[in-house]
Amino acid sequence: MSLLEVKGFHAHYGKSHILHGIDMEVPEAAIVSLLGRNGSGRSTLLKAMMGLVPPTAGTVTLDGWQLCGRRPFDICRKGIGYVPEERLIFPNLTVEENLAMGVQKGAPGAHRWSVAEMYDYFPRLKERRAIRAGYLSGGEQQMLTICRSLLGNPRVLLIDEPTEGLAPKIVEVVMEVILDIGRRGVAVVLVEQKLTIALKVAREVMVMGHGELVFRGTPEDLAEKPDIRRRWLEVA
Ligand SMILES: Nc1ncnc2c1ncn2[C@@H]1O[C@H](COP(=O)(O)OP(=O)(O)OP(=O)(O)O)[C@@H](O)[C@H]1O
Ligand SMILES: [Mg+2]
Repeated sequence: MSLLEVKGFHAHYGKSHILHGIDMEVPEAAIVSLLGRNGSGRSTLLKAMMGLVPPTAGTVTLDGWQLCGRRPFDICRKGIGYVPEERLIFPNLTVEENLAMGVQKGAPGAHRWSVAEMYDYFPRLKERRAIRAGYLSGGEQQMLTICRSLLGNPRVLLIDEPTEGLAPKIVEVVMEVILDIGRRGVAVVLVEQKLTIALKVAREVMVMGHGELVFRGTPEDLAEKPDIRRRWLEVA
C-alpha cells in the first residue's frame, strides 16, 4: 500500500467540473512532481489531498486512513504538511514566532525537525529571526512557509510552486532543501512550473491536463515522450 492514495477523485467548484477521476499513489519517501499547464488542476489536487477541496466522488487515504471530510487540522496532525501557492505567514509575528507556530508533534515515525535545522537550511532566516515576517522579501517568506510546514513533522509534504518569483540562487537552495527532505524519508508532492527542476528532483512525474492525469512515469520516461511534453507542458 502506498502512503497516500487518491482514488476516483472528482471535484467541482460550483458547477465547474475540475478534477475528473484522479487515481494516484504517493509511495513512502518518494518525491513526485505534478506537472501541467496553468489551470490544469494541480493546485486543486493538492488541496484535495489536504482536505481543502471535498470530493464529489472518490477518496483520499493516508496510510489507509480516509481523510476526506476531516478537518485540515486533523489531517495535518496525521502527517500531511501543505505549503500553498500564496505564502501563508503571520505578518505581525517575528520569523522565530512564525516557526514556533508550526511546531507539532507530528505523525509517529516521522523525522523530527528542529528550528536549528531550519536555520541551517536557510541561514538568511536565522539572520532575520527577530524581524516581523511581513517585512521579509517574497523569497524569505517562501522559505519561512516551507520551514513552518516541516516543523509539523509531516510524512508527506505538499508544495505548490515553491520557486515562483524567486531569484535563481534561492531557487537552487530550495531545490536542495527539497532533495534533502526526501532523503530524510518525507514524501513530497511538488507542483513546479520549472520543468528542469521538477525533473531533477523527482523519482516519479505525473502530468495533468484538463483535470486528468495524462502521463505518469520516471523523468527519463518523460524525456522520451516529446509528444506528451508538446501537448501538455510546453507553451505553444
Ligand atoms: N476557488 C475557485 N473557484 C472556481 N474555480 C476555480 C477556483 N480555483 C481554481 N478554479 C479553476 O479550476 C481550474 C483548475 O485550477 P487550479 O488552481 O487547480 O490550476 P493549476 O493547475 O494549479 O494552475 P495555476 O496554478 O496556474 O492556476 C482552473 O480552471 C481554475 O480557473
Ligand atoms: Mg496552481
